[in-house]
Amino acid sequence: MRVEVLGAGIVGLTVADELLRRGHDAVVVDPRPARGASYAAAGMLSPAAEVWYGEEDVLRLGTASLRLWPALADRLGVELRRAGTLLVGYDAADLQQVARQAELLTRHGHDARLLDRAGVRELEPALARVAGGALLPGEASVDPRAACDALLARVPVRGEPAGADVTVVATGARLPEPWTHLVSGVRGEILRLRSDDPPERTVRGWVAGEPVYLVPRGDGRVVVGATSEQHDGEPVVTAGGALRLLAAARELWPALDRAELVEATARDRPATVDGLPLVGPSGVDGVVLAAGHHRHGVLLAPLTAQLVADHLETGAVDAALDPRRLEAPIPVNGGDR
Ligand code: GLY
Repeated sequence: MRVEVLGAGIVGLTVADELLRRGHDAVVVDPRPARGASYAAAGMLSPAAEVWYGEEDVLRLGTASLRLWPALADRLGVELRRAGTLLVGYDAADLQQVARQAELLTRHGHDARLLDRAGVRELEPALARVAGGALLPGEASVDPRAACDALLARVPVRGEPAGADVTVVATGARLPEPWTHLVSGVRGEILRLRSDDPPERTVRGWVAGEPVYLVPRGDGRVVVGATSEQHDGEPVVTAGGALRLLAAARELWPALDRAELVEATARDRPATVDGLPLVGPSGVDGVVLAAGHHRHGVLLAPLTAQLVADHLETGAVDAALDPRRLEAPIPVNGGDR
């Protein structure tokens, strides 16, 4: 099959790589490869740390995709950090958030060990004196820029479409018509620092209600994210956003006071109304969607690649991700007559 994938972010590139592995003829089209949301992303492979009530499908899909990451990272020759995620609550109310999340995870059969103040500091001695937390041992992280660079070395990319049997639309938050309305941008501002005392594992916390995460790369680099805000304009880093992130991160990790601030980036996350991506038939013959991954593009990339390739080969669709679910007519009178 000759396939053109529109969008050279982590999703589009991973889809093309999977198609090439399966013997198809795949090309990615993007005038600015790997400069969208994947360029900003921290690379948390955190289905459990990033889930919340009402989003349980993310847990199922993210857990399935996390299992595919070790093989993908091996193929790409990029490091997968597998020290888990430490959820932390700065004060007593923040710790209640952690406890609620741990309760949700345990209910779904996930390991979420609650820890007191001493327990979290035993794992991360440079952490501030937080109220407590929970360890999610199965989680990992990857550097999305390194992954995209490795994919760009394997996958042909060109600037303009040239026509193919099938088009896969993987343009993240900016979908062409007639699908534009299915995805909207949620700005994320994110900072890159270099610290002489970074955490060992991903630390995701609440500080007086403010969510923040620190994702270490293992060489002193630490990614601190991320704001989340619906807006209409181009994403820019605001002074207020950077200030909130730095203030919350430093409360959790006092050593950041000495860290070098290397970069501040803003990109739009591609959000759908139900928080799940669009993976499957678009309603137009020969066009398949692989977009709208919101907070989970890096995590869900390998699963999306498999689902798209399976769909093209067999017609299979995961009902939870089927783009047609968002176009379904609204039921009248309960809808079951
Ligand atoms: N998955 C991290 C974020 O969206 O900020």
